[in-house]
Amino acid sequence: MRIIFNGTIMALKLGIGSKTGVGVDIGSNSIKVLELSKSGRKYYIDALDIIDLPAGAVSGGTVNDGASAASYLKSSFSKLGISEKKVAIGIPCKHVIIKTIEMPKMKAKEVDSSIYYEAQRYITYDMNEVFLDYIILGDSPNDAGSNLIMIVAGKKDIIENQMDFIHQCGLNPNIVDVDCIALENMFNFNYPEEFDELTAIIKIGASETNVHVLQKGVNLFRRDIPIGGMNITEEIAKKFQIDVNEAENIKIGNMGNRGGDFKADYSIYLNMILSRVTSEIQRTIDYFAANNDKQYPKKVYLTGGSSKLPGILEDIETKINIPVVSINPFRNLLFRQNIADDKSHFFAVAVGLALRGAE
Ligand SMILES: Nc1ncnc2c1ncn2[C@@H]1O[C@H](COP(=O)(O)OP(=O)(O)OP(=O)(O)O)[C@@H](O)[C@H]1O
Ligand SMILES: [Mg+2]
Repeated sequence: MRIIFNGTIMALKLGIGSKTGVGVDIGSNSIKVLELSKSGRKYYIDALDIIDLPAGAVSGGTVNDGASAASYLKSSFSKLGISEKKVAIGIPCKHVIIKTIEMPKMKAKEVDSSIYYEAQRYITYDMNEVFLDYIILGDSPNDAGSNLIMIVAGKKDIIENQMDFIHQCGLNPNIVDVDCIALENMFNFNYPEEFDELTAIIKIGASETNVHVLQKGVNLFRRDIPIGGMNITEEIAKKFQIDVNEAENIKIGNMGNRGGDFKADYSIYLNMILSRVTSEIQRTIDYFAANNDKQYPKKVYLTGGSSKLPGILEDIETKINIPVVSINPFRNLLFRQNIADDKSHFFAVAVGLALRGAE
């Protein structure tokens, strides 16, 4: 098993070869599975699936009910005909510290032996409770005698929790990535024309919202906002005194036979909740600009299940006055026959993970 958290643009290295990569993105609402295979320089989607989970089986990336989630994942693999046992998983960004540091240039072996001591200065977690990894990014722009090194420290308990779960499914977690790095790799792979531009990626999932700012394939800023689709569903349930399943149904557009009065009240309430999320996004982008010579991203790319909330894309666009578009994580991938999927907003992280496996 290799833990690799590293790499901002590694997925761009399209060597010639043939390899399969399976990404398993363990979310709070559902697990996303995606198998890619590389043939020559092209990547093909062989199979994909969304496995809806019972409430509470996974929360914020921690698997609470491994037995039931494992039975769903196993049957998905057999339904899809995936025989590859090695999979890539991504632990949530909030359980990871990522820092770029400078170290005097030295041999790879010497970096290996000194990185732990060096990292201690930057990692606020207890070092006994983390797995540490690093990648040498290249020359430091400030000092010709130093290298830029990205260090990544992930909480052991969450990594072991996800690895145990994957083992429980009869699979082998040979790549442990970080979901926010997988997302950025997916973006760099699919939108190479944005490489030089200052660009924001926003993922609105079930448990949280993540805002990233990138340039030249490298992350400049990242912030997690603790609001996601799950809180929104809970708030709708509370407000209208209905259970969460009903609230979830209404939220995704199944109003059933509810009357016009309800629809009007619901619409007002939803807009109020949306406004809270989008104001937080606006504050985050303003904060980035205030700390970076007043530079704003040229464009915002949106993804995640909750990016489909009606009106949210337009509301973000109005508030920050920057064009907002939906990410197509399949943009530079080819489909094998008979796979059609209109749920691309769910697969951004899974594509990044699968690319890592198929590298
Ligand atoms: N059509 C829709 N409109 C509004 N919300 C939707 C829609 N479809 C799905 N969602 C919401 O998207 C969320 C799931 O998104 P996503 O799959 O990105 O999260 P996850 O990966 O399961 O969880 P995590 O945030 O922990 O990574 C749920 O809260 C769900 O209610
Ligand atoms: Mg997710």
